[in-house]
Order: sequence, then C-alpha cells, then structure tokens
Amino acid sequence: MEQTIKVELGARSYDVRVGAGLLDSLGAAAGELGSVRQAAVIADSNIASSYGRRAVESLASSGINATMFEYPSGEANKTLASFSDLIDAIFAIAPAIDRDLLIVACGGGVTGDVAGYVAASTLRGVRWMQCPTSLLADVDASVGGKTGINHASGKNLIGAFYQPSGVLVDVETLKTLPPEELRSGLGECVKHAVIRDATLLDFIADNTRAILDCQCDVMCDLIARNVAIKAAVVAGDEREAGERAHLNFGHTVGHAIETIVGYGTISHGAAVSLGMIAANDMAVSRGLIAPADAACVRDALEALELPTTYSGLDAEQVWDVMQRDKKARGGRVRMVLPAAIGKVDIFDDINAAEVARAVAALG
Ligand SMILES: NC(=O)c1ccc[n+]([C@@H]2O[C@H](COP(=O)([O-])OP(=O)(O)OC[C@H]3O[C@@H](n4cnc5c(N)ncnc54)[C@H](O)[C@@H]3O)[C@@H](O)[C@H]2O)c1
Ligand SMILES: [Zn+2]
Repeated sequence: MEQTIKVELGARSYDVRVGAGLLDSLGAAAGELGSVRQAAVIADSNIASSYGRRAVESLASSGINATMFEYPSGEANKTLASFSDLIDAIFAIAPAIDRDLLIVACGGGVTGDVAGYVAASTLRGVRWMQCPTSLLADVDASVGGKTGINHASGKNLIGAFYQPSGVLVDVETLKTLPPEELRSGLGECVKHAVIRDATLLDFIADNTRAILDCQCDVMCDLIARNVAIKAAVVAGDEREAGERAHLNFGHTVGHAIETIVGYGTISHGAAVSLGMIAANDMAVSRGLIAPADAACVRDALEALELPTTYSGLDAEQVWDVMQRDKKARGGRVRMVLPAAIGKVDIFDDINAAEVARAVAALG
C-alpha cells in the first residue's frame, strides 16, 4: 500500500511517503537524514496530545531528543505571535540548539506553514520534516516548500520558500479529521484532476464512497496521485514564475467568495468548489470546454458533498474583490480556465460581464 513520490528539485529534492501508520516511522526516517540529535515537534492544540505525542515517541525511540512545542489551533493563529512564541520556546532549550536540530511539523496546513517558517528562520535554516494530518495538507500544503504566516494586511504575506527534507503522510490520521476539513482537501483533489489529469476525476467518481469513508487503501492512491501532480507542477516552477499558477484554478472566484462571505463562515474547500464551478462556466461560455466536461466536474463535486450553488452573492462585489486580489496584475484580473479536463491555461482578458454571468449562475 505504501507509495513514495519524489519531489524533483535538484539538491533540494525530497520524498513524500504515503502509507498507513507512517507516523511511527518518523524516528527511523529522521535518523536516515544523518546527524539529527534533537527534534522540535510543532503541533497545534488539537493535535499535540495525539499525533504530536506519537511523533515525539517515534523520534525518541530512535535515540533523538525530541520536545513538543504546542501552539493554539486555527488559521487565526497563523501569526507572527505564534511564530515568535515558538522561536522563543525553541531557544529556551538552548544552549543545546545547533544546526543538527530537526523541526517536525505535525498537523494541518496551518502547522506546516508556521513550522516551516520557523525552520527557515531558525539559525538561518535548519532541516525540517512534515507529518501532515489533514487531507488538505497531505495533497497540497505539504508539497512545494511554501511556508509562512498571515499579516493583518492579508493572508500568507510573510514567508519563505523553504523545502522540507521529507514528508510522511500517515493516512490513518484522516480517520479523526472532521468531515468539513476532509471536504476542503477534496476540493483541491478535484482541482488537481481538472488542471492535469482527467483519469484522476474518473478515479474520484469511481471511489467516492470509499473516499468519504477514508478507506486507507483508496486514500493512499488518492493522495499519492495528487502529490505526484503537485510535485510535478512544483518541480517545473518552484517559485511560481509560471505554471505553478495553474494551482490557482478555482481560487480566484473562490477567494473572493471567502472574503465576502467571511473566512470561517464558508470552508476553503466549499469556496474553491464554487470557484471551480464559476471558472468552468466561463470556460463553457468561451467555447473552451464542452458542457458535458463541466457537468462531469460538477457531478464529482456534488458526489463529494461539496457545494455547487450559492445564492445571494453580489456579482459586482465579487468582481471588486477579484480586482483587489494580489493575482490581479497591471489592472487585469487573471484566471485559470480549463481547455479540457486535465489541461488549463491562464487568461488575463477576464471581463466583469462574464464573471457576473458565472456568479449569477451559482445562485
Ligand atoms: N504551503 C502551501 O503550499 C499551502 C497550500 C495550501 C494551503 N496552505 C495553508 O494551509 C492552511 C489550511 O490547512 P488546513 O485546512 O489543514 O488547516 P488547519 O491546519 O487549521 O487544520 C484544520 C483543522 O483540522 C484539525 N486537524 C488537522 N488534522 C486533524 C486530524 N487528523 N484529526 C482531527 N483534527 C485535525 C486542525 O487542528 C484544525 O483545527 C491555510 O493556512 C493555507 O494557507 C498552504
Ligand atoms: Zn486551496
């Protein structure tokens, strides 16, 4: 069942291992990195006493001196304050800190982003590993080396590209993931299918029940396929100069909806689901994809219990937010639209009328 996907980035390459029970292999995997004597496991307050503790125990059983660093859970804590508290706590175990320290991110995407930025900053960069526990972190956040925190001016505005030394995805952790969080990850899986792999959409459609039940063997396949797609995109464009932007499919309208409805009111996965529906609608209107292809994506999202309709959105407001979005360059709104299932292009000639039509169609 275990699968390994290599993220090919020259000297910064690393493996993503996907399997059941891999959290207990963390110590052995850390040992293989060589010269790791100390580890700082960073976990949020929901994860620390369960998976965080298992991570510490696994490291200890391999002779690594591991300490847990807990911070409060949630996107609201992806802050400079959490970053600073974690750095203070880690240096409080000084003078033992040196470059042989390994940072381990154990948890969802928030923990990966914060812990990765702690790793990038401590002593100008120490090695780090990821043990993602949410589906979104498994298939998206733990691959590609984007780390960072939010600022009052916006999300993810402070950070660094800093690749981990390895990623261990333990699919058994998904058993405790709240359904709403599972769906957030599933939204990204459908996104990957639309941008790169039509057969992944078939796989999702054929295995919907098993996916919603988090059956380990199916989740291993699902995650491995998604990691392979993200890894290939990142390998082709590590610093988002070009094709890495394809990963924004569904996110331009999706972010606008999150901003308008309010983060926390609608989940990221739900907003991205609606964003993909709107983008596909625009692609159909432009004659880029067949209505039947858009219908397949809609069916897959509905089967995964992701929303495909949302009433009461103000199209003009959506357009205003899209123009403010940091992805709007030179006064133009850029959007990723499919040219077929499995192939997308970036368009910078998006106009208000077609967005209004697609947003109205969501209601
Ligand atoms: N670095 C990247 O490339 C990248 C990509 C996509 C998203 N992100 C970031 O990821 C974050 C979202 O990630 P997320 O959705 O995982 O959020 P999250 O880390 O807040 O996790 C969601 C919730 O689920 C809980 N949780 C996680 N795993 C669990 C488990 N196995 N059992 C029970 N509860 C569990 C967490 O404690 C949290 O309450 C955002 O901040 C986003 O910006 C980063
Ligand atoms: Zn996303």
